[in-house]
Amino acid sequence: GAVETQPATVTAPSPTAKAISKDVTVLYGSQTGNAQRLADSTGKTLEKQGFKVTVSSMSDFKPNQLKKVENLLIVVSTHGEGEPPDNALSFHEFLHGRRAPKLDHLRFSVLSLGDSSYEFFCQTGKEFDQKLEDLGGTRLYARVDCDLDFDEPAAEWVKGVIGGLSEAQEGTVSEPSGIPASQAETTEYSRTNPFKAEILENLNLNGRGSNKETRHLEISLEGSGLTYEPGDSLGIYPENDPELVELLLKEMKFDPNENVPVNKQGATHSLREALSTQFEITVVTKPLLEQIAKLSKNSELHELVLPGSEAKLKEYIKGRDLLDVVRDYGPWGTSAQEFVSVLRKMPPRLYSIASSLSANPDEVHLTIGAVRYEAHGRERNGVCSIFCADRLQSGDTLPIFIQNNQNFKLPENAETPIIMVGPGTGVAPFRAFMQEREELAEEGKSWMFFGDQHFVTDFLYQTEWQKWLKDGVLTKMDVAFSRDTEEKVYVQHRMLENSKELFEWLQEGAVVYICGDEKHMAHDVHNTLLDIIEQEGNLSRQEAEAYLANMQQQKRYQRDVY
Ligand code: 2AM
Repeated sequence: GAVETQPATVTAPSPTAKAISKDVTVLYGSQTGNAQRLADSTGKTLEKQGFKVTVSSMSDFKPNQLKKVENLLIVVSTHGEGEPPDNALSFHEFLHGRRAPKLDHLRFSVLSLGDSSYEFFCQTGKEFDQKLEDLGGTRLYARVDCDLDFDEPAAEWVKGVIGGLSEAQEGTVSEPSGIPASQAETTEYSRTNPFKAEILENLNLNGRGSNKETRHLEISLEGSGLTYEPGDSLGIYPENDPELVELLLKEMKFDPNENVPVNKQGATHSLREALSTQFEITVVTKPLLEQIAKLSKNSELHELVLPGSEAKLKEYIKGRDLLDVVRDYGPWGTSAQEFVSVLRKMPPRLYSIASSLSANPDEVHLTIGAVRYEAHGRERNGVCSIFCADRLQSGDTLPIFIQNNQNFKLPENAETPIIMVGPGTGVAPFRAFMQEREELAEEGKSWMFFGDQHFVTDFLYQTEWQKWLKDGVLTKMDVAFSRDTEEKVYVQHRMLENSKELFEWLQEGAVVYICGDEKHMAHDVHNTLLDIIEQEGNLSRQEAEAYLANMQQQKRYQRDVY
């Protein structure tokens, strides 16, 4: 629509009253890049509406500027047990601390991203929303909490925000165009418009006899126009296990060929196709059970979703899938259409890219750990990893998109030393880093910590690492094979053994990268870093924490953990 350029038409302002500003600040806290992308597209949409927009990472925003902001939009995700993303930590702490300013002048709105299969769903967004109100701010539009399929609710939020901002502008801004933020750039391949990429290579990296299966995928980007940088991720849309789909169809007594709607735009698929490619059937969430209970007459299920049964419900959904629910409480006498209407859209999976585009033109490589386990008396599979491991062959195509990750980047100055900690599949982005530094003949020192179960079967990309070490692309490598010795050795033990030298690297300005398991490894490595800084820097624990927080602030401590 046309953009109005007149100033705000505030009639006869009293000397103290101020016209409401057209300036909007959008702050994001983003770990995987989703919140950042939404913040960027929100900014673009608002600019088209005539607003003057500043989009910034929370970590780059000086909190003392908050007093000057009149319209604040927050886009933030939640991780693990309700924690803020790394680049939201300092701002979050500032707002919740004693130095937080009064914000009576502030108008705000929060878009929070999360996953309803976690107990603390959208916790960080909720906290920002509450805190800004407590500090005196006024909501210009109600907070929207998004589940994994965030595209539609996020677009709704942008519309609502424009409405909220425009109301205050007393009609000086044109009508919202109604273009959802996420569809504003459909000329390119994206999360909402994935590219069907050809599989070039699909290998198992582990040797015979290993407990592990780690797939190495090489995928063609030819014809896509897609580009990426080391540190970025690849999004993949997997297909559900066909066996699971057939069992579900059988239990529900549905006709697999019946057509069902798969989106709000009215596209349809056969039920079989819809259950394999369009909907999530492997995770049971609280909201899903509540929805199913509404469709079902099963009294036990009704009891399970009653207030007061939260603990029981939490226990029940752990490790169960939709087939379990149907077997335990179904079939409920609904139509296939109603059945799929309560399911979450199939969320894409993000994998850290394991290649450099400069070293592999038109290709992207991934390192994917196959996830298989047993729960509640049945063999279970990770949806995407097993789809890739068992059902994807050279020549097949796979819907993909690039997810930029500004939180995991090689230093701009190629001479900056880097320390990489990546056990298991955490090795992936560091293979990309090394390929890039080799290709661009970059000079900076580099140090890799790798770990896995056994040297003989699990040293992922062993020959490549040895060549980089020999050629001097890699300066130093320490490995920890946890199950080759009686006592387990992990990457953090190797770090500690080298604490003096490691601290010297830190003092020289090295950037530390951690990739891999969040719950145990990243947590333990974090604490080991603190131990090293404390010990080698002769600092107190608190000072060591400040040292690391300062590194984080300077983007010298970056994590890609999952
Ligand atoms: P484990 O399975 O023998 O315990 C990659 O998966 C490697 O990470 C494996 O060697 C694994 O060891 C190891 N690992 C498991 N827990 C870890 C932790 N808390 N910190 C570091 N490495 C860990």
